[in-house]
Amino acid sequence: MSSLRTLSTARRALRCWPPINLARTSRTPIRTFQNYAKLQQISQVDGSIKAGTMSKNSRENAGATTPAFNPTLPFFSLTGKTAVITGGARGLGLAMSKALVMSGADLAIVDINKDEAKKQAVAIARLFSETYPNQKTPKVTAHYADVSAKSDVDAAIAEILTQHSQITNLVTCAGFCENCDAIDFQPERIKRMLGVNVEGTYYFATGVAKHMMERQIAGNMVFIGSISGSIVNVPQPQALYNASKAAVRHLAASLAVEWANKDIRVNCLSPGYMLTEIAMDAQILVDNPGLKAEWESKIPQGKMGAPEELMGTVAFLSSAASRYITGQEIKVDGGYTVC
Ligand SMILES: NC(=O)c1ccc[n+]([C@@H]2O[C@H](COP(=O)([O-])OP(=O)(O)OC[C@H]3O[C@@H](n4cnc5c(N)ncnc54)[C@H](O)[C@@H]3O)[C@@H](O)[C@H]2O)c1
Repeated sequence: MSSLRTLSTARRALRCWPPINLARTSRTPIRTFQNYAKLQQISQVDGSIKAGTMSKNSRENAGATTPAFNPTLPFFSLTGKTAVITGGARGLGLAMSKALVMSGADLAIVDINKDEAKKQAVAIARLFSETYPNQKTPKVTAHYADVSAKSDVDAAIAEILTQHSQITNLVTCAGFCENCDAIDFQPERIKRMLGVNVEGTYYFATGVAKHMMERQIAGNMVFIGSISGSIVNVPQPQALYNASKAAVRHLAASLAVEWANKDIRVNCLSPGYMLTEIAMDAQILVDNPGLKAEWESKIPQGKMGAPEELMGTVAFLSSAASRYITGQEIKVDGGYTVC
């Protein structure tokens, strides 16, 4: 990796980076969308912006997440549900964790980084209680698993069931991308990528489905795919990642059909180019300052997505509002894939 840092041309900068942390640094705040004022607060990882500090205008625009009366169809609520999310401690998974809890669900966050999951579990519960001080705060717990290891997955599900009475919902978000020329991608990295992105989804889905079937729970699953599962991103080389996300998408469709008569729905949410919250290593964009603009020029909405822009879709797919939808993929990509 260190030798790769010395690569200077844009093309070479795309080689073999564990990339897709196309994230902002902490010095670069997430864009403010006028109508997303409240969601921006929800997106605060450290909870430093408190509920109730919004302007009147932003409160009016904030929609269903304000404590004020904001009528919406009741079946969008997740009250009474218990969701499990993998990879929920950071990035897109963290925004989705907040969406589930702010919609009323109890939540078990499963992550390979349990310390971060614990920290975020506390912050999310606090966010709910500060936003809705007169309501019962959902239970939010943190659990360890490397989703690519079936023994970890089984242990995490067993642990969750000692702290929650049931599991009604699953969101599988743990996953990663690496950019590497196909002819150079090493067998151990191939195994790791398929292990986390595909096997991890499979192990969690089947483990949770078994529980749902045993208890005859009407269940719901949302697999996090990617537009890369149906298009080929350019210019970054990531053939195996693309194939892994195609597998996730088709796994959702296949399991949806297999489990439809068990009252378990399975759908796939496929994000486009998203700006994740944590800046781990945005070297790919540092080395190639024109790349973000190049991607954005191909997105009809003209910008990469913020993690918060997945919140509504994951809540919708997880709720009874989508009860006649199964086996489908919803792309949240600013229109990128329709061009
Ligand atoms: N960021 C994007 O532009 C983008 C676009 C499309 C799809 N996606 C998909 O969304 C998902 C999340 O991406 P992100 O950008 O938020 O990533 P991220 O790296 O910011 O967060 C991933 C989370 O998953 C956890 N994790 C990683 N490997 C794990 C494992 N083996 N077991 C358990 N937990 C593990 C990490 O600790 C982290 O909390 C991935 O599946 C990714 O492929 C991301």
